[in-house]
Amino acid sequence: MKVSCKVNGLRRAAEDVAPHESLLRLLRDHLGLMGTKNACEQGECGSCSVYLDGVLVCSCLVLAGQAEGRNVTTVEGLGAPGQLDRIQQAFVEAGAVQCGFCTPGLLMASHDLLRRIPVPDDDEIREALAGNLCRCTGYQKIIDAVHLAASR
Ligand code: FES
Ligand code: FES
Repeated sequence: MKVSCKVNGLRRAAEDVAPHESLLRLLRDHLGLMGTKNACEQGECGSCSVYLDGVLVCSCLVLAGQAEGRNVTTVEGLGAPGQLDRIQQAFVEAGAVQCGFCTPGLLMASHDLLRRIPVPDDDEIREALAGNLCRCTGYQKIIDAVHLAASR
């Protein structure tokens, strides 16, 4: 089937999408947007987080067909070339990126948190990021990065 949607502000379409394929597969396999990561494909890790019409979702749990006619924002759409979003810049400066596999999902979840709570405390950050698993950082530098972004 064909799926058409707006991704990061641009109209995109993919042909030959199978009815069972996820939004994650649509983004990565059909549209070539590799920023959104596939770690578990079971809704457990948060690495595939994107906005669908402004709502944070695990794209591995959304069917590609559900994106028809809707707006998708991926980590590639948070900033612009040469102009990182403040949360992306803060992750770099705070050293919150190691292997980087979890980073796109954490950036999306952190971005969503700062839209809802401009200056979150530690507990609010931990709760907002509880669905995003990171095997490298121990999370403290990620929390530091969210505070840094909020301070700007
Ligand atoms: S790949 Fe979607 S939650 Fe892990
Ligand atoms: S930086 Fe490696 S999983 Fe988070």
